[in-house]
Amino acid sequence: MASLTFHLFFLITQWTFSEGYITYIAARLPLKGFIAAPGAPWPMPKEWINSTEQFTVDPRDFLIVYDVECDIMVAAEKRYRDLLFGKQSGRKAPDLKQVEKLHITSGKCEQYPSIGSNESYALTVSPGTVSLESSTVWGALRGLETFSQLLYIDSNNEFKINATTIVDSPRFQHRGLMLDTARHYLAVDTILSNLDAMAYNKFNVFHWHIVDDQSFPYVSEAFPDLSKKGAYGPNLVYTKSDIQKIIEYARLRGIRVIPEFDTPGHTQSWGRALKDFLTPCYGDGKNPGTANYTSHAEYEIVNPILNSTYDVIHKLYSEVKRDFPDQYLHLGMDEAYRACWASNPEIKNFMALKGFGSNFTLLEQYYIEKVITIVKNMSTKIIMWHDPVDNGAEVGNDTIVQVWKDAVFDPKKFLPWQQYLVPVVKKGYKTLLSACWYLNHISYGPDWRKRYECEPLNFTGQCMTLVTVDTLFIRDLEFKKN
Ligand SMILES: *[C@@H]1O[C@H](CO)[C@@H](O)[C@H](O)[C@H]1NC(C)=O
Ligand SMILES: *[C@@H]1O[C@H](CO)[C@@H](O)[C@H](O)[C@H]1NC(C)=O
Ligand SMILES: *[C@@H]1O[C@H](CO)[C@@H](O)[C@H](O)[C@H]1NC(C)=O
Ligand SMILES: *[C@@H]1O[C@H](CO)[C@@H](O)[C@H](O)[C@H]1NC(C)=O
Ligand SMILES: *[C@@H]1O[C@H](CO)[C@@H](O)[C@H](O)[C@H]1NC(C)=O
Ligand SMILES: *[C@@H]1O[C@H](CO)[C@@H](O)[C@H](O)[C@H]1NC(C)=O
Ligand SMILES: *[C@@H]1O[C@H](CO)[C@@H](O)[C@H](O)[C@H]1NC(C)=O
Ligand SMILES: *[C@@H]1O[C@H](CO)[C@@H](O)[C@H](O)[C@H]1NC(C)=O
Ligand SMILES: *[C@@H]1O[C@H](CO)[C@@H](O)[C@H](O)[C@H]1NC(C)=O
Repeated sequence: MASLTFHLFFLITQWTFSEGYITYIAARLPLKGFIAAPGAPWPMPKEWINSTEQFTVDPRDFLIVYDVECDIMVAAEKRYRDLLFGKQSGRKAPDLKQVEKLHITSGKCEQYPSIGSNESYALTVSPGTVSLESSTVWGALRGLETFSQLLYIDSNNEFKINATTIVDSPRFQHRGLMLDTARHYLAVDTILSNLDAMAYNKFNVFHWHIVDDQSFPYVSEAFPDLSKKGAYGPNLVYTKSDIQKIIEYARLRGIRVIPEFDTPGHTQSWGRALKDFLTPCYGDGKNPGTANYTSHAEYEIVNPILNSTYDVIHKLYSEVKRDFPDQYLHLGMDEAYRACWASNPEIKNFMALKGFGSNFTLLEQYYIEKVITIVKNMSTKIIMWHDPVDNGAEVGNDTIVQVWKDAVFDPKKFLPWQQYLVPVVKKGYKTLLSACWYLNHISYGPDWRKRYECEPLNFTGQCMTLVTVDTLFIRDLEFKKN
């Protein structure tokens, strides 16, 4: 049954199985003293009236009915029926009142979830009929998930569900999980399993950090060499049909898919196909295209002074826009390797010509403005990491700025996350907070409680704008398919 422990177990094993820790986690979870009561929902709903009064269901003829014609509901009914009764051997309790039907009044059938999706719902469990009401199918999906958590099988192998009233809506509109498929390739099936785990936990954005220095698995029609030369191998790529499959799987679960094509840093792999796209670094101080061992490569940051750079950005991002229906595109913009720019005499000339002096924020700003103009012209909205804002750049007043830095990485190098978040919020940007949820920093299972307890609004300063949350998972996984 989809109980708390089941969900946690699933979520954690999905991420750790590939590292071979499954027995380690299984041996330590569930934790003593932290097992929820049978039929407790997860995460905690906004309003929850519980009771010890129990009803039963008959798995052979339980009805799930809904009132709209909607492919999302057709798929959801099938999926939850299977989750609830498919592999369960429970039976109806003979001496309890019965719940015969789940009646869903689901409201609007929208094609794709968006940042404005209304995910609220109300769920009432009483004898006869469970009613689930929402104003959109997204709310119905969240309510169905909660319903699946309320139903449980007890030690007599009997289905039980307690009298319950829940009125729920998310605290944050954006509840993301980032997967990095560039430091390590993740198979499509692994990504789909993660989408299931996300749906069980009511996450609604898959932030797909798809390419990076290490590899370029996105297969582009405009630039086929990018993956031919930049992927780890000919099969370690994402084709158009892989991407469609992932987006469709996510859509049916109310999950948006936002791709991140990170520039100007984190682009070494692009250079294997597009030589002029990257700045030749004078890593040895004398010669173009030399590395600065051991910290930086010969070529790993975009060359912002060539017009051809922006032709590439325009063509590639237009293609990405056709592949991904979400309104948002993540532009990265973190960790620009300025020392490379500073080492290159042509860049220095360009900066002098533009009157930038030796202020690399102005060069970064120049690059960001050109890219923003291209992306906005595609009617696309923008997310980027907070580094340019930290540096003093303006990044567009409707850009969502995502905060990743935190003292936990290295207290000598970084401040507590609040000290990055507050200035971003004060400048009026919509803000995504990720800093306290680097799941790859989990040392072992129970650490998850610290993540759950991180309070994103725990900062002083007026919060004028939306603050939302995004969880990061970027460890290079040692992936072994079972
Ligand atoms: C009942 O709900 C309240 C919150 O409304 C919660 O604190 C309490 O733990 C719940 N009881 C059980 C048995 O889960
Ligand atoms: C459901 O009812 C049972 C039996 O009365 C009780 O033990 C359990 O704590 C209840 N669960 C919740 C979540 O209230
Ligand atoms: C979302 O839908 C609920 C009904 O499920 C409604 O009460 C609420 O006002 C809606 N919220 C917005 C922002 O439209
Ligand atoms: C080489 O890397 C070091 C350490 O990151 C940095 O201080 C230095 O400026 C770099 N030099 C060049 C030429 O990139
Ligand atoms: C680059 O484009 C700008 C205008 O967009 C133009 O003025 C300039 O001549 C171009 N440079 C080259 C080398 O083509
Ligand atoms: C904006 O997009 C149109 C086509 O949609 C294109 O013709 C035009 O060149 C673009 N402008 C810029 C600045 O990219
Ligand atoms: C560099 O430019 C940025 C953006 O205009 C500005 O905030 C910053 O103060 C400048 N830095 C220096 C050292 O002049
Ligand atoms: C952003 O700036 C543009 C003009 O530069 C203005 O029209 C728009 O209202 C501003 N939006 C916000 C949310 O401040
Ligand atoms: C809020 O942050 C402070 C540190 O700035 C920390 O000591 C406290 O535990 C946090 N509280 C919550 C509820 O996260």
